[in-house]
Amino acid sequence: MATAERRTNFFEETGLWKDAPLLTGSTKYETLPDVKNIMITGGAGFIACWLVRHLTVTYPNAYNIVSFDKLDYCASLNNTRALNDKRNFTFYQGDITNPSEVVDCLERYNIDTIFHFAAQSHVDLSFGNSYGFTHTNVYGTHVLLEGAKKVGIKRFIHISTDEVYGEVKDEDDDLLETSILAPTNPYAASKAAAEMLVHSYMKSFKLPVIIVRSNNVYGPHQYPEKVIPKFTCLLNRGEPVVLHGDGSPTRRYLFAGDAADAFDTILHRGEIGHIYNVGSYDEISNLELCSHLLKQVGIKYEGEEEFKKWVKYTHDRPFNDHRYAVDGTKLRQLGWEQKTSFADGLKITVDWYKQFGEQWWGNITKVLSPFPVVVDRLIVSDTEAITDSPQPGQK
Ligand SMILES: NC(=O)c1ccc[n+]([C@@H]2O[C@H](COP(=O)([O-])OP(=O)(O)OC[C@H]3O[C@@H](n4cnc5c(N)ncnc54)[C@H](O)[C@@H]3O)[C@@H](O)[C@H]2O)c1
Repeated sequence: MATAERRTNFFEETGLWKDAPLLTGSTKYETLPDVKNIMITGGAGFIACWLVRHLTVTYPNAYNIVSFDKLDYCASLNNTRALNDKRNFTFYQGDITNPSEVVDCLERYNIDTIFHFAAQSHVDLSFGNSYGFTHTNVYGTHVLLEGAKKVGIKRFIHISTDEVYGEVKDEDDDLLETSILAPTNPYAASKAAAEMLVHSYMKSFKLPVIIVRSNNVYGPHQYPEKVIPKFTCLLNRGEPVVLHGDGSPTRRYLFAGDAADAFDTILHRGEIGHIYNVGSYDEISNLELCSHLLKQVGIKYEGEEEFKKWVKYTHDRPFNDHRYAVDGTKLRQLGWEQKTSFADGLKITVDWYKQFGEQWWGNITKVLSPFPVVVDRLIVSDTEAITDSPQPGQK
């Protein structure tokens, strides 16, 4: 294993963010009279930072936004630095597994609404460090629910994932919100377990909750441990990408601006006690993704042999869901729509990583290996065998 690298420089200010566009969603609703102070957990991470920016700049006179984040290995304050001079934005460094920090934040800022995004979110890591996933995703959610109950929160919007449903066969219909949960990896299981606690607090204590199950989100600001930013950064470096298994699993991808719109829509139009899937129409295999990225990065190749120079393989995950497929009709009926095509979203993403990917989070070299490991905010790269041929998929 390569030497570990510690990330302690979250508060170091290089001014890099000043060159970046302030990216948000595009929806704007009539404001809610009973919403004033919104706490967004995981606000320095990927998806939540889009919502933090979106709500802060779209509703400056109506909502105060408190981004609550422990600043884990994947976070960056660069994600919200552009908001530091906004009167309605505050950052609170806190840990959702620490009850006194949670309650302090809730009381200090008189929070009435919670968007709960904070989580250990990377499936690959959950195979090796599953206790950490249970601790943050299950116990952390429990702590937050207790805090929410204590202060009498008006809306608790819990962010879950399409992975709680487990694998969906090619021939199966898209899954509705009423489908059975059947997670297949420790990350997905911890997210499903968190949902059970959320549901129980709704039933036992009348906590006003909404659960959101989204499919994969991509776009600028995503830590390069996930497939799209990781492969983009590798190709930008002129290095090949490495697929797990045979590259055949498919995923549906939603641009982060559209995800921010989905959460904005659910805040303003979602019904308490309901579950909403957030579904995209863009489903592609990991192998197809490589062709799209090569094209977008501007790498020309002719034929199979040249393609093989850029696309390598390593062993698969212990279990790799072939596909996920949620039916997003219920959310569409609230007026939400997917506005960004995969082609447009990928272009915005690749351009952003070309300009900022190498500096936004500090040195990302170790993160770009096929199965990096994180130990107490240390990123350690792996030494997996890499080949030119597809590896047997784990089903
Ligand atoms: N990325 C996706 O495609 C996707 C898809 C569906 C659902 N989700 C869900 O959306 C949420 C956000 O995902 P993401 O990809 O943006 O995650 P991310 O890993 O980019 O960000 C997670 C954030 O949570 C923070 N955090 C972690 N542990 C914490 C703790 N104990 N206390 C406070 N903060 C803590 C981290 O510092 C980080 O800023 C997660 O709940 C995830 O399960 C993600």
